[in-house]
Amino acid sequence: MFIDLDKRKSSVTNLSWEWLFAILHRTDDLFRVPAGRLYGFKGSCVSRNGQCEQAIFAVTDTVFFSLNAFKETTKMVNIEGKAPEEGGLKEFMALAELFDYSEETLAKVRNAVAEEKNVPLPQLTRYYNPKPSRVKMLEEYACELFGSNYALGVNSGTSALNTAYAACEIGPGDEVIVPAYTFFASVAAVVTTKAIPVIAEVDQTLCLDPEDAAAKITPRTKAIVCVHMSGNVCDMDSLTALAEEHNIALIEDNAQACGGKYNGQFTGAIGTMGCFSLSSYKITGAGEAGLVLTDDEWLQTRALNQHDTAACWRPDRFAVERRPGELFCGQNYRMSELEGAVNLVQLKKTEAQAQRYNRNMRTVSENISDFKSIRPRPSNDKEGDVGYKLVFFGKNREHSAQIISALKEAGVRAGGRGSKTARDWHIYTYWEHIMEQKTATDEGCPFTCPYYEGELPPYSPDMCPNTTDLMERALFVNINQWWTDNDCRRVAAAINDVFSELD
Ligand SMILES: Cc1ncc(COP(=O)(O)O)c(C=O)c1O
Repeated sequence: MFIDLDKRKSSVTNLSWEWLFAILHRTDDLFRVPAGRLYGFKGSCVSRNGQCEQAIFAVTDTVFFSLNAFKETTKMVNIEGKAPEEGGLKEFMALAELFDYSEETLAKVRNAVAEEKNVPLPQLTRYYNPKPSRVKMLEEYACELFGSNYALGVNSGTSALNTAYAACEIGPGDEVIVPAYTFFASVAAVVTTKAIPVIAEVDQTLCLDPEDAAAKITPRTKAIVCVHMSGNVCDMDSLTALAEEHNIALIEDNAQACGGKYNGQFTGAIGTMGCFSLSSYKITGAGEAGLVLTDDEWLQTRALNQHDTAACWRPDRFAVERRPGELFCGQNYRMSELEGAVNLVQLKKTEAQAQRYNRNMRTVSENISDFKSIRPRPSNDKEGDVGYKLVFFGKNREHSAQIISALKEAGVRAGGRGSKTARDWHIYTYWEHIMEQKTATDEGCPFTCPYYEGELPPYSPDMCPNTTDLMERALFVNINQWWTDNDCRRVAAAINDVFSELD
């Protein structure tokens, strides 16, 4: 098949990549190019009249043409080999089989889908996608939901953190304050950004202690990372004031509190940047995915660069940088359309889900009596905590261990460190990567970095004694969003029985 594009003259010049794909997919009446069979590139060629043309070219199996004003069309060498027209049935079924539908239902789906022949594979990457990108829709919805100017989809919570740190220009010579109780990723991403993590205590809310954070600020501090742990929100007033006073970034790690609020504002959209994990292990999420929020256009630009060093996000990806700092060596943290599509559905459930958890957590806690030695975790915003875990503290490790096993026996899902010695990546004492300054390469950067002019923090398992004590005494009761009021009262009654016995 040879398509003579001269038949359709266009006045479009200076086509960008986006244009190339848009045109190819809009000129359906003229020709149809199945995705995967089209290659486009920018370059030059000698046209029929012997002139050298700078243009964007497209090549299909049979045709080579320039899209600059559709003026050059050249027949290619006659090629016999042809890719079989398989369509996307196998791939579609491979996805459908990830859901636990019965064999019978899957067979019906397979038969229904097989009736349509040669359906091309969907484009599962966001950029140059002929269809509206699901990742982009997810970002737009995140902006609308959380009230943020910008949202960027990335491929994990860890990538979100690394993207935010790079966007804020955190690097060699800088210190970043992180809480002693958080999933290790918040800290690991500081080290992979080549900065020094300074570990600060959490307070009884199990979130970063603003007083200890303040005490650990030095002239080298570039950012504070606060983590809304187990759905419970940080003291954002104190932390925002602290960051403003020292003119440093406040980065929220909201991986564990999607849908949480502080003073009516969504967490993740309060600090300089907010990072979310949308992995399958989180209350909102599917697959491996993350989000970065910010209100600042420049931080968003730098975040875009860090998440896609191929610069596909730029209006003209190959153009020189529009401002120093726009282009630097970044990563590929792009979110796939699979995760974009599923997480768009998930994120639309977030607000109602957080409200159900919060309501049930409050109903249970309001029905628990006041005890002398078993104390509830104080909250920074009772109405804003997502509340999928209620936390209490016993007198000591042994006391908590006793309470936890009594709660389990009474049919209440509870957990905690108690006397356990199992390792846990959420507690700084087990971060031997930091305690022993382990790095990917032997020279030990960033811990040995010549740009670092401070004295390294005294990394050791006893550097944050308050956190260690709190973690030994904490006991967590899981809250279910689908409990009825009666269920909540029954759970509270069982807790009251156990606590009265062991207080
Ligand atoms: C507080 C916190 N930060 C960051 C992460 C990292 O997210 P991801 O696993 O998506 O990289 C997690 C995940 O468990 C987390 O709990």
